[in-house]
Amino acid sequence: MRSLSFAAAFLVTTLASVRAYSLVDNYSGSSFFDSFTFFTGSDPTHGFVDYVDAGTASSAGLTQVNNNIVYIYADNKTVASSAGRQSVRITSNKSYNLGLFLFDVNHVPYGCGTWPAMWLVGPNWPNSGEIDIFEGVNLQSVNQMTLHTQEGCTMASSRNQQGSVVSNNCWINAPGQASNQGCSVTNPEASSYGDNLNNGGGGVYATQWGNDGIYIWWYPRNGIPADISNGSPDPSTWRSPDAAFPLGSSCPNDFFANQQIVVDLTFCGDWAGSVYGSSGCPGSSCQDYVQNNPSAFDDAYWSINSFKVYQ
Ligand SMILES: *[C@@H]1O[C@H](CO)[C@@H](O)[C@H](O)[C@H]1NC(C)=O
Ligand SMILES: *[C@@H]1O[C@H](CO)[C@@H](O)[C@H](O)[C@H]1NC(C)=O
Ligand SMILES: *[C@@H]1O[C@H](CO)[C@@H](O)[C@H](O)[C@H]1NC(C)=O
Repeated sequence: MRSLSFAAAFLVTTLASVRAYSLVDNYSGSSFFDSFTFFTGSDPTHGFVDYVDAGTASSAGLTQVNNNIVYIYADNKTVASSAGRQSVRITSNKSYNLGLFLFDVNHVPYGCGTWPAMWLVGPNWPNSGEIDIFEGVNLQSVNQMTLHTQEGCTMASSRNQQGSVVSNNCWINAPGQASNQGCSVTNPEASSYGDNLNNGGGGVYATQWGNDGIYIWWYPRNGIPADISNGSPDPSTWRSPDAAFPLGSSCPNDFFANQQIVVDLTFCGDWAGSVYGSSGCPGSSCQDYVQNNPSAFDDAYWSINSFKVYQ
């Protein structure tokens, strides 16, 4: 009996230690930007945006760290040149294979013409996959979570998740879906995007990437699990995720590798621009609006407490 309970206790301890996550990277505070590379090429999604380098961003006040909070702004002072409105797109130098990603934000960019995103992406796109954790356009009401892959990754219509399915084929060229639509799920919570997120003081986007699947949770500020706040996150104790993307026979787990963290804000382009006319935003031209109304972008900024990566 004694040895049996000893064995049971040993087993429980072993399972717990297999599951427990340890902090491997803490992107925050005054060193936040040191671990990222500023992208300055033309926007791959064809936005009306001028992505600036680290020096330009800092001297223009587009990147700031105050009281340990990281801010990333877009230019809201000038009528934009034909190159597009100045903004920032950063990619983590480090890449990851599996892990738990906790993105703690106070404020996200919002408004007509905007297309903000926080995401993970691997090299040789789409062969190493893309995981869009936070993304939306214009006056969109809730967050949309999406995977983009090479051919051969599909999701079942019915999964154990809170969100609503938009599309189930993750392949970027899936027949019957818009180009590069991927497999998407919308969040059920109003607080998951835009003004509603900002008015509630933000919260934490948690993404668990394991061999068995990719799972995303949105926890608004007033509902963050204690294990996240105290630095011992344990997703096995959380409610069912907002988006569940199981990996296995219908979507091989090796379709995702070497993922880097990206944060960006573009304007118009392939998504925000193509739906601008039906978005409830002023005028008919996204580009005209973005170019000529600098003060419309006062709310187009990120405020970030930390990005933490656990493995
Ligand atoms: C993460 O870094 C910030 C400062 O950049 C620090 O205040 C905080 O204590 C760190 N958190 C952990 C869990 O190490
Ligand atoms: C990240 O990469 C950029 C260049 O791409 C470099 O300037 C920076 O020093 C790197 N950061 C770290 C912490 O290595
Ligand atoms: C730009 O946006 C920031 C942040 O919302 C705001 O503090 C500032 O007053 C805005 N306008 C100008 C002209 O900088």
